[in-house]
Amino acid sequence: MTQDELKQQVAKAAIEHVVPGTIIGVGTGSTANFFIDELAKIKGQIEGTVASSEASAERLKGHGIPVFDLNSVSEISVYIDGADEADPALHLVKGGGGALTREKIVLAVADKFVCIADDSKKVDLLGKFPLPVEVIPMARSYVAREIVKRFGGEPVLRDGFITDNGNIILDIHGLQIVDPVAMETELNSIVGVVTNGLFAARKADVFLCGTANGVEVIEA
Ligand code: A5P
Repeated sequence: MTQDELKQQVAKAAIEHVVPGTIIGVGTGSTANFFIDELAKIKGQIEGTVASSEASAERLKGHGIPVFDLNSVSEISVYIDGADEADPALHLVKGGGGALTREKIVLAVADKFVCIADDSKKVDLLGKFPLPVEVIPMARSYVAREIVKRFGGEPVLRDGFITDNGNIILDIHGLQIVDPVAMETELNSIVGVVTNGLFAARKADVFLCGTANGVEVIEA
């Protein structure tokens, strides 16, 4: 099976977690795109969606799926999104696509988080994938220095990339994330950091992991 076939497999499986008649939170990235395409097939059964990026909103609208502004929504039944890394406790690294802040905001409103990814994303220890941190542009150098001082690693500016919120991304290379909840909290305490790609304080509730032998369902 190709990686895309594995992603498609978990996107199909995620449809079972869609709660009819409700608003669904939709993530960003190639796996989320497969999910959006599957969601289009049952669009009549949901009230609509909230998207975690402009790109996902465009794809949803292209399928004729209603997309609501989060400020007009008070409840999201389930948030469905991919990940860059998932550890055995279902702490995640996200933000490879740069949508981490909006992803975290939409997730904060959702009752449940179903993560969908192929099995290449499964790791024992988070950190091999460079950890994305969204930063207010004028704070770039200060935040990079603070990160090195507090955690080590090598922050690298994501070249030519601006988030949907008008900010930059520093990707931190070379981390070994032993305590993801503590690191998530401390990173967010650095002035100028908007948010970071650790989804640990609020982690996935269910991980649908695409393998050559079918979808493995891992619950937190
Ligand atoms: C987007 O900002 C990310 O959080 C994605 O969820 C993550 O990068 C996974 O993307 P793929 O599904 O493309 O691997």
